[in-house]
Amino acid sequence: MDRIRIVGGNELNGTIPISGAKNAALPLMIASLLTNETLSLENVPHLADVEQLTRILGNHGVDYSVNGRREEQASIYARTVNFTAGNIVDTTAPYELVSKMRASFWVIGPLLARMGEARVSLPGGCAIGTRPVDLFIDGLKALGAEIEIEQGYVLARAPKGLVGNRYVFPKVSVGATHVLMMAASLAKGETVLENAAREPEVVNLADCLNAMGAKISGAGTPRIVIEGVASLSGATHRVIPDRIETGTYAMAVAMAGGDVLLEGARPDLLETALEVISRTGAEITPVNSGIRVRRNGSGILPVDVVTEPFPGFPTDLQAQFMGLMTMAKGQSKITETIFENRFMHVQELARLGARITLSGQTAIVDGVSQLKGAPVMATDLRASVSLVIAGLAAEGETIVNRVYHLDRGFERLEEKLSGCGATVERLSS
Ligand code: EPZ
Repeated sequence: MDRIRIVGGNELNGTIPISGAKNAALPLMIASLLTNETLSLENVPHLADVEQLTRILGNHGVDYSVNGRREEQASIYARTVNFTAGNIVDTTAPYELVSKMRASFWVIGPLLARMGEARVSLPGGCAIGTRPVDLFIDGLKALGAEIEIEQGYVLARAPKGLVGNRYVFPKVSVGATHVLMMAASLAKGETVLENAAREPEVVNLADCLNAMGAKISGAGTPRIVIEGVASLSGATHRVIPDRIETGTYAMAVAMAGGDVLLEGARPDLLETALEVISRTGAEITPVNSGIRVRRNGSGILPVDVVTEPFPGFPTDLQAQFMGLMTMAKGQSKITETIFENRFMHVQELARLGARITLSGQTAIVDGVSQLKGAPVMATDLRASVSLVIAGLAAEGETIVNRVYHLDRGFERLEEKLSGCGATVERLSS
């Protein structure tokens, strides 16, 4: 199993290209199930989760090709990937595949809308919490689906097609918003989604669906209106830059010091996080080609944060921010409100010398003047990159084990950081 070795203490200086967003690419790929024509997605990141979803879609009959470059070269550049669901050959998403990646549950929306049926395994729990699917089920029922749970599978049927309706989300859910938007695009009549997720990835999906012929308005606000259409066509659509990768590298610079251009980053996708990072003492400047992040010798200031749905501070940056706060000059409080078990990085950061105590959903971080390198274990995607951030400023060597978590969501992390002067390398085994 690969590991990442970091020797801390170097500033970061240079340019880091920001990849296409994993969490935008995944629902866009799933949207290809809605049409028998080709959906071409530009700026698709080369990540383990993208590869896994490509396999899952292949199981349903989706063909894919990568434009212009041989597959082995494609990882080096932002890729255009074409997905064609000419014929859906299977409407079942089996446990073996769905359990590996929660987002694959989302195929339930397009399969049901296009084929009138879907049999999708319940995803089960995952490291960051129980993550139920009640909102998907209630929402699809509101659109007229008949749903049963049988032997760990959700069986959804709508033999006469889905019918538009009003659905009020009792809780904001990114995934359920994606799924209902996709399903309602092919329903008869109008659907109104209230208290919908406002994340940029929802807007990116709505833009893509509209390019495919859907009639969606209001994405990015809590009220999305979808006028159903009879069929959707192919389209070419671009994946937005990854706001979580952007925030992660901005925090890496805030931690290690230096001056880095985050090339291709869009400040409007993470205003709250950038504001928080600037309050820690880093200088954030939007420029034409992206975002410039600088921190000179002055220390890191403590800042309290509470995670919230967009436009609030994202849960997907909570672990990284905690990594940064471990070396702040004073105490900070970090409260997680989205997932109930997203503090597994606390114990690992403690191995590097961090002083963190947990009180319910709040972590109280007392900054230390120096972390010390140690072997640590990645527990989930964002937790593992928080260990990398801490390792960049720790004295001596940090080895991050179980790097496959990182590979799910960070493209060429070690290259991007070492290109800016960090001592970071992958140890293959
Ligand atoms: C998306 O997950 C992201 N995943 C997550 O990123 C991200 O952390 C999360 O949104 C919140 O921003 C992808 O986009 C692939 P939710 P999702 O439904 O859609 C509860 C990462 O590291 N809920 O918005 O699964 C749920 O348990 C990942 O890249 C229900 O109660 O998240 C959670 O507490 C991890 N019932 C809250 O809603 C439901 O039916 C928000 O979850 C659905 C969700």
